[in-house]
Amino acid sequence: MSSESKSGLRQGLVSYGDQDFSLFLRKAFIKGAGFTEDALSRPIVGITNTGSGFNPCHGNMPQLIEAVKRGVMLAGGLPIEFPTISLHESFARPTSMFLRNLMAMETEEMIRAQPMDAVVLIGGCDKTVPAQLMAAASAELPAVQLITGSMLTGAHAGTRVGACTDCRRYWAKFRAGEIDQQEIDAVNDQLVASVGTCSVMGTASTMACVTEVLGLSVAGGASPPAVSADRIRAAESTGKAAVASIARQLTPKKILTPRAFENALRVLLAIGGSTNALIHLTALAGRLGIKIDLQRLDRFARETPVLVDLKPSGQHYMEDFHHAGGMPRLLRELKPLLHLDCLTISGASLGEQIDRGPAPFAQSVIRPLSDPIYEQGGLAVLFGNLAPLGAIIKQSAARRELMQHEGRAVVFENLQDMAARIDADDLDVQAHDILVLKNIGPKGAPGMPEAGALPIPRKLARQGVTDMVRISDGRMSGTAAGTVVLHVSPESAVGGPLGLVQTGDRIRLDVAGRAISLLVEDKELKRRQECQAFARPTAERGYRKLFLDAVLGADEGADFHFLRPPNTETIPR
Ligand code: FES
Repeated sequence: MSSESKSGLRQGLVSYGDQDFSLFLRKAFIKGAGFTEDALSRPIVGITNTGSGFNPCHGNMPQLIEAVKRGVMLAGGLPIEFPTISLHESFARPTSMFLRNLMAMETEEMIRAQPMDAVVLIGGCDKTVPAQLMAAASAELPAVQLITGSMLTGAHAGTRVGACTDCRRYWAKFRAGEIDQQEIDAVNDQLVASVGTCSVMGTASTMACVTEVLGLSVAGGASPPAVSADRIRAAESTGKAAVASIARQLTPKKILTPRAFENALRVLLAIGGSTNALIHLTALAGRLGIKIDLQRLDRFARETPVLVDLKPSGQHYMEDFHHAGGMPRLLRELKPLLHLDCLTISGASLGEQIDRGPAPFAQSVIRPLSDPIYEQGGLAVLFGNLAPLGAIIKQSAARRELMQHEGRAVVFENLQDMAARIDADDLDVQAHDILVLKNIGPKGAPGMPEAGALPIPRKLARQGVTDMVRISDGRMSGTAAGTVVLHVSPESAVGGPLGLVQTGDRIRLDVAGRAISLLVEDKELKRRQECQAFARPTAERGYRKLFLDAVLGADEGADFHFLRPPNTETIPR
């Protein structure tokens, strides 16, 4: 029973000062669970269990774990599951983004602390996959991501519905008085028809697609619905891939190259993906000392059309994307724009993986490059005196008439101010005004909540107004739509120019020119800056203190500065 071999149970021994005794004790305890010497001699694949009663998006966790274990054992490994934090968008307060870095830290440390040769990360709901990928990038162990999969769609009065684009659509109708309490209650029963992640191209689906093109999940692993046989088969394949990755020592660092991130940006644009994914990709790249260049993203956006016809940019749902061929089909269409030599977890290059995919067949959800649903990529990057470090707009989900717009600012100082006044009958607001919400950035709220798609003021909603230009330093749900400028950097809570905007100022949005401008003279802005009395958010103790002390801006992925490699350049906030 020598501890010299550093694989399986023999690695990462607990410190008792006698390594052989440490191994002896470890084996004694695990044998208490009935393991044999044969089982304990195999390479170990750890499996993160993120099942939680508070996370219905992970409601198929038991079936997935069982299938991953089967795959690991078929390939000759020993699967051992372990629990980690689980985050759900509607249950994690104040916002799941506040806890993403905590989940990333906890997952990384549990991977490091426990003896495993590879890890299967099972996640799905918006922040879980980014947290797990960030953890894996830092833990430097072979890792394969398994997605829980999307929920099924439901139906209301003969109309197909799914979370959460339709949640917002019906809620807007309710606010406008178009439907009554009885109907909105009936809709509520149908929006989430099964366990699984949101059924549109929201953040969860976007991260699933991006993970696949990055090469960290099995081919075709992004799209099978949570309750499908294909999803279970993907789980079994993931277990096998994890065992194979041990011999090849396929650590995330070997796969997550700058070129792999460029592929991820191409896919993000081509699927009309969530703006949140840009923050997560920036944070993930930052873990490896790679910088996502917003100017480069914008160049990609001008030459990468939206090909996937899914809500909120289009009309279909994730299960339609799966039936149309999912990521293998999309990647085949995007092939001319991708770096095909990038390595994937299978050991094959991305190009080889695409060529091995199923032959194309007729369908209408994934368009060819020659017939896109939107000529440019889903996102556009804006700069200007209002956002010196950049801002984002999801142009594929915005209203075309508002993409060139100048209007009067109607300012809300923070979330509480907005909640108190947005529906007031005496709110001085017109349809062509621009709504501005301050202090919802990474430090501001804190945690950068998805409040950037401010509700249309009730009095305007009742007049039939469905979209307005809205600007904030916060985020927006990937399932939301509208002419919404997000991630304005630097954020107002650290002295960014957004904090200087006053009601009555004029703002110009020029998406074609990639500009967002506050039409106030520099002299006046300087004067406001000098008299501005703002206090940076602070906290006395605990994780909130850690968060406020360490979080970076949206343009740096809102990661903690100390989780990036030493000597990484960061912008002081
Ligand atoms: Fe979990 Fe949408 S709430 S994916």
